[in-house]
Amino acid sequence: MNVGQLAPDAPPTVTSARARHQVEVAPTVAPGFQGETAGPARGESPGRQTGETPSVTPSVWDAVSGVIRGRRSNLRVDPQRPISAELIGRLLELGCWAPNHKRTHPWRFAVVTGAGRARLGETAAAGLTALGLGDPALLEKTRQKYLRAPVVIVVGSTAHPQPHLHRENHDAVAAGVQNILLGATALGLASFWSTGAPAEVPEVKRLVGLQPQDEIVAFIYLGWPLEEAPPAQRSAPVVTLIDS
Ligand SMILES: Cc1cc2nc3c(=O)[nH]c(=O)nc-3n(C[C@H](O)[C@H](O)[C@H](O)COP(=O)(O)O)c2cc1C
Repeated sequence: MNVGQLAPDAPPTVTSARARHQVEVAPTVAPGFQGETAGPARGESPGRQTGETPSVTPSVWDAVSGVIRGRRSNLRVDPQRPISAELIGRLLELGCWAPNHKRTHPWRFAVVTGAGRARLGETAAAGLTALGLGDPALLEKTRQKYLRAPVVIVVGSTAHPQPHLHRENHDAVAAGVQNILLGATALGLASFWSTGAPAEVPEVKRLVGLQPQDEIVAFIYLGWPLEEAPPAQRSAPVVTLIDS
């Protein structure tokens, strides 16, 4: 889809978005492979245990790490406040920079805004009904849920006749979804990756321009945040070290 063709809206400038939602870039370091106790704790300076002088200038590492750690699933957004086609286009471009074995270019995007969100919900609910899935409450929730954000990007992965490349296409698209989420975070946008039963509905695939064998990898909700998501925890990496 050429997002340049989307109806122009009233875009908040990137500059103002950054100013309002700038990600903190305090110097941090990854825990390292030596075990949980060997490396500095998250948020600690790398120099604290090694005696090295910590960098005081935010580095590329700090910026990248800050965006990755700052990304949260967040649907507390203003559904009325549009996101410009220009910003959406930038995010979709980032999505296509993910690694992609065999350069199959498996990414497919549908940008759903305005009344399209209700149409997506109706299509999903009708498709679930046809599949015999969903009680009335779930169907009603399905009709409404895409209205929670001003933009929903449906991300598809093209099918491949070879099973391992089909799976790798899906993996590449999932990596592309993360690129989009991180780009959104850097722009000050809230984002939320969702899947669920609608991803399996043939009518939804048709609506978003996919073939039946293609896969929907994500419904990405995007919006300007009304509130930050609560801080999250992550467990330490589980690592098997093989060095001899
Ligand atoms: C493949 C995938 C599918 C997801 N689908 C859903 C979903 O259908 N509903 C939902 O609430 N969250 C969904 N999530 C979001 C996760 O629940 C969320 O990432 C997790 O709770 C961690 O929170 P965080 O993203 O703020 O770190 C999905 C995440 C991934 C990677």
